Amino acid sequence: MKVGFLQFKPVFCDAEENISILSKMIDQSESFDLLVIPELANSGYVFVEKNELEQVAEEIPSGFFVEKLEEIAKQRDGFIVSGICEKKGNKFFNSSVLIGPDGYISTYRKIHLFDREKLFFEPGNGPFKVFDVKGMKIGMLICFDWVFPEATRILAIMGIDLLAHSANLVLSYCQTAMLTRSVENQIFTITANRVGTETNGDVSLDFTGLSQITSPSVQRLAEADKKEEVIKIVEIDLEESRDKWLSERNNIFDDRRTDLYTRLLDIQ
Ligand code: ACM
Repeated sequence: MKVGFLQFKPVFCDAEENISILSKMIDQSESFDLLVIPELANSGYVFVEKNELEQVAEEIPSGFFVEKLEEIAKQRDGFIVSGICEKKGNKFFNSSVLIGPDGYISTYRKIHLFDREKLFFEPGNGPFKVFDVKGMKIGMLICFDWVFPEATRILAIMGIDLLAHSANLVLSYCQTAMLTRSVENQIFTITANRVGTETNGDVSLDFTGLSQITSPSVQRLAEADKKEEVIKIVEIDLEESRDKWLSERNNIFDDRRTDLYTRLLDIQ
C-alpha cells in the first residue's frame, strides 16, 4: 500500500489557485493509493470575517474543489483525503473529504474546534466512520482532534489501519504526540500539515510544517521540513497495523480494563 502526504502553503480565500497548486504537485508525484492533503486546503485558515467564508466555502459534493479533486483521483487512480472549508445552508464546517477514483465518498466534520475556529465553524457531530481504501481501513480526523486520544482510539477499535490527519498546526506538540497515537493503537498515521505564515488584519499565524507518516513501531517513515512544499509517499505493510500484540501476553485491545474506565463516559 503506497500512502503519503502533501505539504503546501494554501493561498487565502482562493480555491482556484489552491487547486492549481495541488494539481501541479500531484501531477509530478509518483503513484499512490492514498494521499492526504492539509486542513482547509481550498481556503486557507486565518478568517477574520464570516463573509470570507461565504466567498470560499462550498457545498459538498457539488462544489468546485471537490469536482477537481475527483478528476485528480480518477486520473491518478488513487484515493485522496483533503481538508476543505464546507458550507451547508448558512453554516460552515471545517471538514475533510474522502475521494476515490470513482468519485466522492464521504465527509468528516472536525469535532474539536481550535481557538478562533469557534468563531466561524460549527463542530461536527460524528459519528466516527471507517472507510475501505483498496483493502486498507482508514479513518479521518482534523488537526486539533489529535489532542483528544479518545477520537483516535474509537477509530482504532473500529478497525482502522491508518489515520488520515489533515492539519494546519500552530502548536508544536502534535508531531511528537502522533508517535504515541501510533503505538498505543498500533496504527499508521499521516499528518498532512501546511506551511507558511498567514496574516489577516491583526491576526497572524505561523504553521509548523513537519508533515509526517508514523508507524505502529514508533518510526517516522517519512517527514517533511518546516517550510517545504512537498509530496512524500511510502510503502506500508498492513500486517503491522493488524497485529495488536505488543508482547506474547499483551494485546493492546484485549488488555484494556474497561471496567475501570467508566469515568471516561461521565458527562462532567
Ligand atoms: C488546528 O486545529 N488547526 C490547530
